[in-house]
Amino acid sequence: MSGVKIIGTGSYVPEFIADNNKFSEFLDTSDEWITPRTGIKQRHILTDKPNFYMGVQAAQRAIEDAGVNPKDLDLVLVSTCSPDFFYPSMACLIQKKTGAVNAAAIDVNSACTGFITAMDIAQKYLETDHYKKILIVATEKLSSQLDYTDRSMCILFGDAAGAAVVEKSDKPFHSMLGAAGDEFEALYCKIHYNSNCPFYDKEADHYNGIFDTFSKQNFLQSDGHAVYKFAVNAMDKAVRKVAEQRGIDLQDIDLVIPHQANLRIIKKATELLGISQEKVYTNIQNMGNVSSACIPVCLDELSKQGRLKEGMTVCFVGFGAGLTYGACIFDI
Ligand code: ACO
Repeated sequence: MSGVKIIGTGSYVPEFIADNNKFSEFLDTSDEWITPRTGIKQRHILTDKPNFYMGVQAAQRAIEDAGVNPKDLDLVLVSTCSPDFFYPSMACLIQKKTGAVNAAAIDVNSACTGFITAMDIAQKYLETDHYKKILIVATEKLSSQLDYTDRSMCILFGDAAGAAVVEKSDKPFHSMLGAAGDEFEALYCKIHYNSNCPFYDKEADHYNGIFDTFSKQNFLQSDGHAVYKFAVNAMDKAVRKVAEQRGIDLQDIDLVIPHQANLRIIKKATELLGISQEKVYTNIQNMGNVSSACIPVCLDELSKQGRLKEGMTVCFVGFGAGLTYGACIFDI
């Protein structure tokens, strides 16, 4: 099986910062509550532009970092669970703005697991040899889905985008994806259709009834306890699986970039795996949870800090709405 080589990275983080104290100005909350339970001190919010703007910025930076001509990109693969349109896809918008005129354009939505899903897909496309260079972008504007009167959820998330240009490599790459659709009600954001279809029978629509009664329609809803429990188990399972596929001990992993939902989840899961905290990269303190953009933003930070060294064995692991989960392990 061929591998995936990351030849360029980029990210975009909005300028506006909302630290924990800003939330105390309009909610009954505090830094003393938020920091110990989540690890989050601040998050960035895109206050004046659509989501795809961030994706384009991150993409352009990754393309420049890779030193490739956008015309040579064969595929634009975008992960988002907070798109600006039902259609066209975010990938088409980013394809247009980056000048990737020869590329196919596809969106994937496995929520926070999205960047890992995109890596898994990219590896399979690259293996066909029909696709030589792929731009992967994860762009998320969670602020557009949050209820800012719900203190248990709105403090957790931020906005950002991350991107990578990848090509085929002869180094090892292993990945796994999983889903537990029966747990979907633990984390969802329902689309609110303004349909005026005269034949629609709202009373008979069982799911519409459930969501209208128990949720605030199109805001992000989550059972934090259920997600927490799922996340720790899923991360443990996913990392063990890819390490086993690769045939290495967990201690042989040099760097883990986990999904950044809660610092306590990351610590608990990596402790169970017996992976030392020095090998685990986090930026949740400054970024909050930016869904599928967490991993590529971390990746870009590490790259710019010169911390991605040739020969390192890196593991991405994540989980998200669905509920979904996944991991990949590869050599730089
Ligand atoms: N400030 C002050 N008090 C709060 C806040 C807040 N921001 N949020 C909740 N509380 C209160 C609650 O109202 C509750 O009060 P009560 O006991 O009077 O009813 C009390 O704090 C305890 O609430 P819990 O929900 O039990 O708090 P918990 O310690 O479980 O932490 C949290 C909640 C941080 C969401 C945790 O469950 C968690 O990290 N879950 C996983 C992360 C998650 O769900 N992320 C969303 C999904 S994202 C993804 O990436 C997949």
